[in-house]
Amino acid sequence: MCGIFGYVGERKDAGRLVVDGLKCLEYRGYDSWGVACKEEDDHLVIEKKIGKISDVKSSAFLEKCSIAVGHTRWATHGGVTEENAHPHTNEDGSIAVVHNGIVENYQELRDGLLARGHTFLSETDTEVLPHLLEEELKKTNDFASAVRLVSQKIVGRYAFLALHTDSNVLVAARNGSPLIVGVGSDGYFIASDIPAFLDSTRTVQYLDDGEMVVTDGHSILFSDLATGEEHPKREIEITWSVEQAEKGEYQHYMLKEIMEQKDTIVRAVNQDDKETRTIAEAIRSARGTFLVGCGTAHKACMAAEYFFSVIAGHHVNVSSAGEFKLYHHFLKPESLLIVVSQSGETADVLEAMKIAKSKRAKVLAIVNVEGSTIDREADYSLLINAGPERAVASTKALTGQMAVLLLIAHALARKLHDGKTQLLEAGSMINDMLNPRYVERLEKLAEKIKHREDLYIIGKSWNYPMALESAIKIQEVSNIHAEGFAGGELKHGPIALIEEGTPCIALIGKDEVTGDILSNATEIKARGGFIIGVSPENNPIFDEWIKVPDAAAAQPLVNIIPIQILAYYLAVQRGKDPDMPRNLAKSVTVK
Ligand code: AGP
Repeated sequence: MCGIFGYVGERKDAGRLVVDGLKCLEYRGYDSWGVACKEEDDHLVIEKKIGKISDVKSSAFLEKCSIAVGHTRWATHGGVTEENAHPHTNEDGSIAVVHNGIVENYQELRDGLLARGHTFLSETDTEVLPHLLEEELKKTNDFASAVRLVSQKIVGRYAFLALHTDSNVLVAARNGSPLIVGVGSDGYFIASDIPAFLDSTRTVQYLDDGEMVVTDGHSILFSDLATGEEHPKREIEITWSVEQAEKGEYQHYMLKEIMEQKDTIVRAVNQDDKETRTIAEAIRSARGTFLVGCGTAHKACMAAEYFFSVIAGHHVNVSSAGEFKLYHHFLKPESLLIVVSQSGETADVLEAMKIAKSKRAKVLAIVNVEGSTIDREADYSLLINAGPERAVASTKALTGQMAVLLLIAHALARKLHDGKTQLLEAGSMINDMLNPRYVERLEKLAEKIKHREDLYIIGKSWNYPMALESAIKIQEVSNIHAEGFAGGELKHGPIALIEEGTPCIALIGKDEVTGDILSNATEIKARGGFIIGVSPENNPIFDEWIKVPDAAAAQPLVNIIPIQILAYYLAVQRGKDPDMPRNLAKSVTVK
């Protein structure tokens, strides 16, 4: 939910390195930002502001230090104020901390610190950390030991970086939120995500939960937070490039990533056949398969329930990760949990994995970020290979996730080759679809409906999850109140919402439910609704027809793409930043 970043080494512009790195982490939260630099004369200079770090102008202090930490915030505890912005310090300003996650027992810790005479400037949970570090430092006289001892006092999922004016080291600890080390030629970087330092190095080392790291910029030591035992780490080379993570000629990451679906479906389908068949057999032999994700990834799981049912005749259970706890009664060692996550860091999904592991069930992860916590903690993983997804609104990851799940469903039906063929054809259709005229058509449609405050989407079968996903996309980036319904459900209540001119999108394929969904759309039309048909064939009830190819079981992958483009233009035309939607962040690493 927040971005944290630090550098220590030979360079003297550590502050600038940190500011530039935080700009690459802004997708993780952008309420406020702050940087702390330890200058040559050993005192800390701190600057923090409300707003986006991408607006920051140069500051002199950035050029005179060789160790710095910084933070870009998505508020959890305490409002969006300068006092609540990180870094947070102890009273004499000798210790600075930046933190991502939640200190669940912060109130108890704060009360104890207040009772021992400490004073607080912010409402945040984070501010207990520098004060606790000060207390432990007095006992141990060693900053790294102080970090280890403090980490044993706090409860919750977190990652934090800390520096001290009398110690020339950068120290970090993680337990549930991501933290990666960049191995530079002139120092070490520690960040929530790789893009923060990708300009400087592609060599990384991953910090795991329950570990801490200490570096003076020349050497580095990874150790166990509880025992202090050293944990040697191998160095990994990152293969994707900076430009892949940048916008290119697009104004926003969201449109770039939508257009990348020309290639990402094919990349998702490019899995090892033997591995895919092994996973299919694991599903066949499991005593209960549970498909779990959050938000958009959860809608991919819902679509997969139809894939497994229609293509393989196999029943799977689907749950949003936040609701999975209720399933623990059913879990056995022979059960299989399949988790779907773009970032591989979503807290609710990690919690679901913990529940499954507590019952000794196996976990398969379908993720986009290699080396993410979910990727590393699963028993086995499949990567969707979509490349970095930076826009908060997930687009190419969704179609990649559905492609992999559709492939597995075909493997389960012992028709893997047919599945690959069908998906590669869908990829080719999408490639043809994503042309300037098609995009312009949707841009014009957005103009027609951008002033509406309510919008409904209906779908049936595997298009029903896409109706729910369409609502997320439109809500997220344009802030229009959009709601998705199963077509058959409309007449049982929601149809009362339809008024003259109410826009309603019908997601349609060429399949056994086409007649039903057209009837549902007709019922809306009869009450004045403005019908937008996303369909392989036109129909007289459509006020607007958005043509899509007939993609059979891959129809959900095809139907969602015009909606992604429509949502993007609705946002832009309503003056919103589609890459940084209100109140949201890219990776929800808190429960
Ligand atoms: C999707 O547009 C949203 N940003 C959100 O629902 C997201 O899909 C959800 O938070 C899950 O994230 P993950 O795929 O990284 O686990």
